[in-house]
Amino acid sequence: MASSSSSSSSSSVAVLGLCVCLVLISPAVSLTCTSQIFKSNRTFDQCVDLPTLDSYLHYSYNATNSSLSIAFVASPAKPEGWIAWAINPTGAGMIGSQALIAYKSNHTAVVKTYDITSYGSVNESKLSFETWGLIAEATSNGSLIIYGSMKVAEKAEKLNQVWQVGSEVQDGKPRKHAFLPQNVKAKDTLVLEKATATSPSPSPSPSPSPSHSTSTPEKGGQSSIKSNNLSFFFAFILFISAVFFS
Ligand SMILES: *[C@@H]1O[C@H](CO)[C@@H](O)[C@H](O)[C@H]1NC(C)=O
Ligand SMILES: *[C@@H]1O[C@H](CO)[C@@H](O)[C@H](O)[C@H]1NC(C)=O
Ligand SMILES: *[C@@H]1O[C@H](CO)[C@@H](O)[C@H](O)[C@H]1NC(C)=O
Ligand SMILES: *[C@@H]1O[C@H](CO)[C@@H](O)[C@H](O)[C@H]1NC(C)=O
Ligand SMILES: *[C@@H]1O[C@H](CO)[C@@H](O)[C@H](O)[C@H]1NC(C)=O
Ligand SMILES: *[C@@H]1O[C@H](CO)[C@@H](O)[C@H](O)[C@H]1NC(C)=O
Repeated sequence: MASSSSSSSSSSVAVLGLCVCLVLISPAVSLTCTSQIFKSNRTFDQCVDLPTLDSYLHYSYNATNSSLSIAFVASPAKPEGWIAWAINPTGAGMIGSQALIAYKSNHTAVVKTYDITSYGSVNESKLSFETWGLIAEATSNGSLIIYGSMKVAEKAEKLNQVWQVGSEVQDGKPRKHAFLPQNVKAKDTLVLEKATATSPSPSPSPSPSPSHSTSTPEKGGQSSIKSNNLSFFFAFILFISAVFFS
């Protein structure tokens, strides 16, 4: 953030105030994923706008039986390409990833599992953990969605997630993706927050940033957090106006 030394102190204060407001409202307001509604009417406890490749993860974690249920939304690099979401139980990158990869085959979206052992070819195979309910769906705007559930390590608190998009599938095999910065950076930690599905979450004051800064509950507390932060924002703007224009 560049700060110009020549700017007057009053505008610096206003800019600083605005920055503070933006930081306070951004976790609740800026997420695209909260507006994504699934045709199947499936719902999830949390969602996150992943930091690269215009990708989104919706998820519910059930700590009682260590199961994670997800919907991953992304657009292939080309219409005939593929999208992938993976957990890497052994490292942070692509190698070792236990991947769900979706693409269109004969105009129908399909999803398959791959144990990624090399940067070269990938072969369909079972994953190192149990999966069920894997379904792929194509949307009218060219995105693909992967739905599925999987068993995660007992008492896991976070997972290494990896995602990717590619442009080509040949003989049922996803071909190499690009290695641009946005492709290489497509990995992150997924924090498994315990589901608080039905308890209403009161948030009387501007809430502190959640531990995983970009994820947000999809229902319950969401709208109240948003409106609290928004009213705080407008109160702050009124305050700024009162200070500088009266
Ligand atoms: C495509 O549409 C889905 C809903 O059908 C939406 O969630 C997604 O964000 C859209 N993707 C893009 C790239 O606009
Ligand atoms: C999803 O919900 C809408 C509105 O409640 C309903 O009209 C539609 O039939 C539902 N779709 C499915 C697949 O259940
Ligand atoms: C979590 O899994 C347990 C065991 O299968 C089940 O009894 C419980 O209802 C599940 N919780 C949710 C929120 O789905
Ligand atoms: C765990 O609980 C979820 C939600 O109740 C259920 O859908 C799933 O089948 C359960 N998984 C296992 C492995 O028991
Ligand atoms: C593609 O789908 C059509 C219609 O479902 C079917 O007749 C055809 O055999 C399929 N082609 C391949 C290569 O699977
Ligand atoms: C995938 O299978 C092909 C043909 O069976 C084999 O040549 C190749 O080495 C395999 N690739 C990996 C990464 O296992």
